[in-house]
Amino acid sequence: MSINSEKDLEALRKVGRIVARCLQHMQSKLEPGITTGELDAIGGKFLAAHGARSAPRITYNFPGHTCISVNEEAAHGIPGAKVLQAGDLVNIDVSAELEGYFADTGGSAIIPPESRLHLHICSVEKKALESAMSEARAGARLNRIGYAIEAEAVNNGLTVIENIGSHGVGRALHEEPGFIAGFYDKRDKRILRENQVITIEPFISSGARQVFQNGDGWTLVTKPGIFTAQYEHTLVITKDKPLIMTLPA
Ligand code: CO
Ligand code: CO
Repeated sequence: MSINSEKDLEALRKVGRIVARCLQHMQSKLEPGITTGELDAIGGKFLAAHGARSAPRITYNFPGHTCISVNEEAAHGIPGAKVLQAGDLVNIDVSAELEGYFADTGGSAIIPPESRLHLHICSVEKKALESAMSEARAGARLNRIGYAIEAEAVNNGLTVIENIGSHGVGRALHEEPGFIAGFYDKRDKRILRENQVITIEPFISSGARQVFQNGDGWTLVTKPGIFTAQYEHTLVITKDKPLIMTLPA
């Protein structure tokens, strides 16, 4: 969507704050022994208490309120009986709708003890998101986002997952502009416009470039021993730095 009024901005910010706080709340409950299903129920309760509806559920009939992806799972993990363990790398992705507006956020976290590899992937991932956000401004090519993400990954000995990426959001969970690559796609001539609403969500990995469906119809995996981190914000493009909608405060 494009922000056309103060009302649009406020409504997007409102749902953005809810998903950001939901993510924070769920991350605060991460500990060995909790199942991904229990964690998801906490998130579902949080969204309902704020009047928001799970976006993957209402859009795609996803079997959960949030996506929870552990270790070699990179995205769209189905919450369930899986018991989280010390040392797990856990990605939680929270997207929701409120009053017709959609916001999408996500974050990876490590249940201590934190391995050096997990810390490295998460720290490069954070830098990649920052760097891509600083490139995303009105008038710039959309492919500057992937350029920035790929540069962070490559400069730090890591890889980018190429077949999942960022996207337009706002009036639907996924809308125009469609797939925004996390790598430099020189054939992509699209230009970012002022007031456009997009996510930026790099997927940075310890070696994979592709994810595969694991057979459950949802979960996107790499392979055991390969780890992927993701942080995601919903943003409004301006002539300067983008406005971040998915902040907890
Ligand atoms: Co998301
Ligand atoms: Co997204």
